[in-house]
Amino acid sequence: MSAGQPRTPHPTLELVGVDDLSSDDRSAIIRLCADAFEEDFTPLFQYLPDSTHVLARLDGELVSHACWVTRSLQPGELRPLRTAYVEAVATAPPHQGRGYGSAVMQRLAAAIGDYELGGLSTGRFSFYERLGWERWPGPLAIRTQHGLLHTPGERVLILRLPRTPPLDPRALLTAEWRPGELW
Ligand SMILES: CC(C)(COP(=O)(O)OP(=O)(O)OC[C@H]1O[C@@H](n2cnc3c(N)ncnc32)[C@H](O)[C@@H]1OP(=O)(O)O)[C@@H](O)C(=O)NCCC(=O)NCCS
Repeated sequence: MSAGQPRTPHPTLELVGVDDLSSDDRSAIIRLCADAFEEDFTPLFQYLPDSTHVLARLDGELVSHACWVTRSLQPGELRPLRTAYVEAVATAPPHQGRGYGSAVMQRLAAAIGDYELGGLSTGRFSFYERLGWERWPGPLAIRTQHGLLHTPGERVLILRLPRTPPLDPRALLTAEWRPGELW
């Protein structure tokens, strides 16, 4: 590195189950997501049962976050796959573009190796594709008690893990219904 070029400090990365998050951590996550997405994230924890969180802190300040919940994604005729479904990926705006979001997602990917698949919904492909995630080009639907609810406007990415069976990404991919965001 040339003289005068400031070095990007490395945040500490921590994996925390939702029940072990302090109320300060919960507030900081909601604030961070609201700042990054410019949306109200107050109800975040109502919709994330049994979530596990990756927290990146710099001198104690939360600078980046992602979490996952367990869902059941079913590709085509395969059995439903136990899926780590990623939510609330956000870096505080003043800290974006320094590799913190990538570091959080790499830590997350290393922690979900026991799952059969990774999944997430996003409009921002390049960030995830650089990290090994793949677009699901096939159709998407939600399984409900009344049958399939097709969701043509949604965009889902998957991450193949060591336990992922061979997949046909042109097949229909379904997920179980849930309250809040369906994908
Ligand atoms: C998407 C988001 C989480 C990325 O977080 P981040 O900390 O900025 O991520 P990174 O710094 O690791 O990567 C961002 C970009 O900076 C570049 N970058 C990474 N490290 C860098 C570094 N040291 N110096 C300069 N640029 C760098 C990457 O190439 C990346 O570009 P890409 O997205 O086109 O691939 C963040 O922009 C964000 O919170 N956005 C708003 C919410 C959102 O859209 N969330 C995700 C959608 S579900």
